[in-house]
Amino acid sequence: MSDQQYIWMDGKMVKEQDANVHVLTHSLQYASGIFEGTRSFTAKKGTAIFRLKEHTHRFFNTAKIAHMTLPFTEQQINTATIEVVRKNKLGDSYIRPFGYYGVKGVGLTNPVKYPKVSVAIAAFYFARYLEKKGGLRCKISSYRKVSSSMLSPRAKLSANYMGSLLASLEAKDAGYDEAILLSESGHVTEGPAENIFMVSEGTVVTPPSSANILMGITRDSIIRIAKDLGFAVEERNIHREELYTCDEAFFTGTAVELEPIVSIDKRKTGDGKIGPITKRLSDTYSQALRGQKKEYEKWLTYV
Ligand SMILES: Cc1ncc(COP(=O)(O)O)c(C=O)c1O
Repeated sequence: MSDQQYIWMDGKMVKEQDANVHVLTHSLQYASGIFEGTRSFTAKKGTAIFRLKEHTHRFFNTAKIAHMTLPFTEQQINTATIEVVRKNKLGDSYIRPFGYYGVKGVGLTNPVKYPKVSVAIAAFYFARYLEKKGGLRCKISSYRKVSSSMLSPRAKLSANYMGSLLASLEAKDAGYDEAILLSESGHVTEGPAENIFMVSEGTVVTPPSSANILMGITRDSIIRIAKDLGFAVEERNIHREELYTCDEAFFTGTAVELEPIVSIDKRKTGDGKIGPITKRLSDTYSQALRGQKKEYEKWLTYV
């Protein structure tokens, strides 16, 4: 990593200290921004970005849901993402594409009526989020997951993450590592920034797309890997009690990778240790991220 970091802003590489916006920027005042979270890894043949095209595609879908017209093509954002990782000489990194109304002013609908959408892409050294030896102790949140009647669980809208933040803070204040959110109907949805899986009698189970979840790219990768390893996979609604009585549970996400859960509301998951299926999936996924699995090489874009 070089000392001088650069952020890609609307087509230009800008020194980090110059990559600023006005304090009255619409997206700062009203959380009207959208974002993506992508990672690069030090892989077998060099630095590689994991599932770049899928992340960029989700970024554009989020923009569409938000009524925001990004002034770039997906190809341009893919190229810019590669450039920013390269320019900052990164290996293991977190990449943050961000779409925002960069205009100043507090008129709520003005930037949407007269759009001036900006895109920034930052990348910085990153190891892993939430990693905890021995697994996570989780709490079912008193906050419910947003539904499509409020915001959009399928989009990475900045505004969604106030709910995620409240749930995380509540869990941490109560002495837990992370929150799990239910939907208004009481079904399990996901963590504040992670999808959730459980293992029950050998079957790998995760909530379906209709359960107010973000369609995680890690979730998709883990489903693929689980099937390839010969496990039965079900995408179906999960009740809270099923989480209390399952054999294994884990979160998935770009930042957390695959993170085991060892208790939920003080009920041990299985015997309270990291389960064998969780371990196998985690190991395989970790190898896939780092170019050590030939069959998943297609997920990597070398920079
Ligand atoms: C709310 C939410 N759910 C799930 C995920 C996991 O998605 P992915 O695996 O694409 O990072 C994230 C992270 O992006 C998230 O913010």
